[in-house]
Amino acid sequence: MKFKCFSCFLCDKEQSQIQNGKEKKKRDYPWEIYTLKELLRATNNFHQDNKIGEGGFGSVYWGRTSKGVEIAVKRLKTMTAKAEMEFAVEVEVLGRVRHKNLLGLRGFYAGGEERLIVYDYMPNHSLLNHLHGQLATDSLLDWPRRMSIAIGAAEGLVYLHHEANPHIIHRDIKASNVLLDSEFEAKVADFGFAKLIPEGVSHLTTRVKGTLGYLAPEYAMWGKVSESCDVYSFGILLLEIVSSKKPIEKLPGGVKRDIVQWVTPHFQKGNITHIADSKLKGRFDLEQLKRVIMIAIRCTDNSPEKRPSMVEVVEWLKGGLGRRKKEIPNSTHTNGDGEIRRTQSKLKIPSDDDGLKIR
Ligand SMILES: Nc1ncnc2c1ncn2[C@@H]1O[C@H](COP(=O)(O)OP(=O)(O)OP(=O)(O)O)[C@@H](O)[C@H]1O
Ligand SMILES: [Mg+2]
Repeated sequence: MKFKCFSCFLCDKEQSQIQNGKEKKKRDYPWEIYTLKELLRATNNFHQDNKIGEGGFGSVYWGRTSKGVEIAVKRLKTMTAKAEMEFAVEVEVLGRVRHKNLLGLRGFYAGGEERLIVYDYMPNHSLLNHLHGQLATDSLLDWPRRMSIAIGAAEGLVYLHHEANPHIIHRDIKASNVLLDSEFEAKVADFGFAKLIPEGVSHLTTRVKGTLGYLAPEYAMWGKVSESCDVYSFGILLLEIVSSKKPIEKLPGGVKRDIVQWVTPHFQKGNITHIADSKLKGRFDLEQLKRVIMIAIRCTDNSPEKRPSMVEVVEWLKGGLGRRKKEIPNSTHTNGDGEIRRTQSKLKIPSDDDGLKIR
C-alpha cells in the first residue's frame, strides 16, 4: 500500500478513466469521488447548523446529496503529513471492507487543502451520545437493544480480525466509534487508526494511538499491537454498554478509577444489579448481565494471550442470548493493582440462585 501519494494515485486512476470516456462503467472500486461543489452544496457550505460532531481529526457534517441521499461528511483539519496519512488509511481500508456492522464509505474528495470523507449518515448517531451524551436522557437503549448493539459491534470486529484480507486491527474501538442506524444496528466506524496486518505476523510494534481508558496495557506501555488490543477495548465497551459508566471516572480528590476497577468488587460480591445502568430501571436480564460482565472480564485480562478471540466473544454473547448454558473457559485475571485473582473454575453461566462467586 502506498500512502504517500494516495490521492494522486486515485486522481490518476480517475483521470485515465475519464479520458477513456467510460468513467462510470469502468470503475472498479466501490466508492465515489465527489466534487467539492457537490459536497459544499450538500452541507450548505459546511454550515454550523449542519455540524453533527467533532473529533480529533476534524468535524462531521450532515448533508443531503442532489439525489436526496443523507450523508455524513468528515472534514479533516488542516493537512499535516500525519493527517494525510490518516486520510489515506481511512479511505484505503474503508474502501476494502463491506459488512453489515461496519460503517460504509460512500466516497471522498481530495483536492488542495481539503480532505473530505463521505459516509452513510447514521440517524441514531453514536453509542456515546446515548450512553453519556445529549441522547442519554431519552433512554432509547433498552436491554435488548444494548445486547444487539454489543453483538453487532463484536461481529464487525470478527470480520476485521478474521475475514478481511489482510486482517485489520481497528485500534480505536470506543463508544463514539460505534454508530447506530435507523434500526439501532451497530456500525463500527473510523478506521483511520487501523493497522493492516500481513499474513503470518502475530503482532506489530507501533506508536500508540487510540483513546485513554480503552487501551490494552501492553499497547499503552510498549506499543505492542495485535487483535487482542481490540478485544481489550471491546471488553471496556461491554462494561460501558451495560452500566453507562465512563471508561475512566474522576473521583473526588482527582483520583482516577477505571471501569474494570469499579466493576470487579461489585462482581466479586455478587452485587450484580448495582452494575446495571440505573436508567434501565431494573428492566434487564440478570443472567445475560452476569454473562456479559464475565465476558468483559475475560476480554480485559492483562495478559493478551489470555483474552478470547472475537469469534469466541460473539459465540459467548449469542450463547447468553439463546439462554443456553454455554461455558466460558477458566481464566486468571490480574487486576489494576497487580493482584492476581482466579475466576471460578469453569465459568458456568450462573443462575440467579447460584449467588455468583467469582474470586
Ligand atoms: N456517519 C455518521 N453518521 C452520524 N453521525 C456521525 C457519523 N460519523 C460521525 N458522527 C458523529 O460525529 C461525532 C464525531 O465523530 P469523529 O469520528 O470525528 O470523532 P470521535 O469519534 O468523537 O473521536 P475520534 O476523532 O477519536 O474518532 C461522533 O461522535 C458521532 O456522533
Ligand atoms: Mg470517531
